Amino acid sequence: RRKLIIDTDPGIDDAMAILMAFQSPEVEVIGLTTVFGNVPTPIATTNALYLCALADCPEVPVAEGAWAPLTKSEPTRISDYAHGEDGFGNTHVANPGFVKAEKVDQSACDFLIEKVAQHPGEVTVVALGPLTNLALAVRKDPSFVKNVKELCILGGAFFASGNVNPAAEFNIYSDPDAADIVFTAGMNTRVIGINLTTQVILNDKELTDIKDSGTKYGKYVHDITRFYMYWHVTSDGVDGIFLHDPTCMAAVLDPSLVTYRTGVVRVETQGICAGLTLLDMGLKGWNSSNLWMHQPPIKVGWTVEANRVKELVKNL
Ligand code: BDR
Ligand code: CA
Repeated sequence: RRKLIIDTDPGIDDAMAILMAFQSPEVEVIGLTTVFGNVPTPIATTNALYLCALADCPEVPVAEGAWAPLTKSEPTRISDYAHGEDGFGNTHVANPGFVKAEKVDQSACDFLIEKVAQHPGEVTVVALGPLTNLALAVRKDPSFVKNVKELCILGGAFFASGNVNPAAEFNIYSDPDAADIVFTAGMNTRVIGINLTTQVILNDKELTDIKDSGTKYGKYVHDITRFYMYWHVTSDGVDGIFLHDPTCMAAVLDPSLVTYRTGVVRVETQGICAGLTLLDMGLKGWNSSNLWMHQPPIKVGWTVEANRVKELVKNL
């Protein structure tokens, strides 16, 4: 079984993706690392611990990570408007008293470095939130880049509108400097942007069917997605919820679900386009005047088999 570390800000769709990994015979989850994003980091940590317990895997380590982006001067953006104050659609299942945990050990970066060093070339990292922890690991220890088997990222919007604003997708917008470091670090990297995940939509009827199907997590998934559904319908005008993080996890569990193009990805770090992800596929000719050609290429998701991804989610 492939070893997996999930870097995450749970988060409703993060929760679904994490449960997919715990359920899969293809992978062994060897740790979760948390980051700010959908919720402040202490709540992300509480939620990650809850998901390990829910999946009957309380022994899986959870390492808490960054509380804020590397350098961004604006306030840290938290998407409680989409995920609820508790990150689970205000169900308060993980934290009934809704206590904000005290600052604990910020060890995600060291955890990532140590775990991949223990298993060089064996660990896949799935990044479902802002890329701050990954950038810190890349900067702190060059062996991290060498030791990672593969990094699969949910982030960016390629040749498509963002979801924070027309330029930027949430995870990349939340720490554009970190994203640019990670995309150009030279790791074996795949990225799934919201240009793919907005094609993967689960509607209310399908979520009710999941609840009634009697699967292990069906009722839980239905309950935590009520708030998320309301937000999608009222803010995005979508008749259902986008399966962002679950699509990324599906691409890890079954590589045949997504096709890729290869190229250099850079991130705009400043101004009104901060968080914009740009892909250079060399179509204009990779000549020496193109400075981007000197960066290592990565794989960018190009097409997705939406119905097959949804089948995986329906089995939760
Ligand atoms: C990403 O932002 C978060 O709200 C979701 O969990 C997902 O990781 C989509 O833009
Ligand atoms: Ca997420």
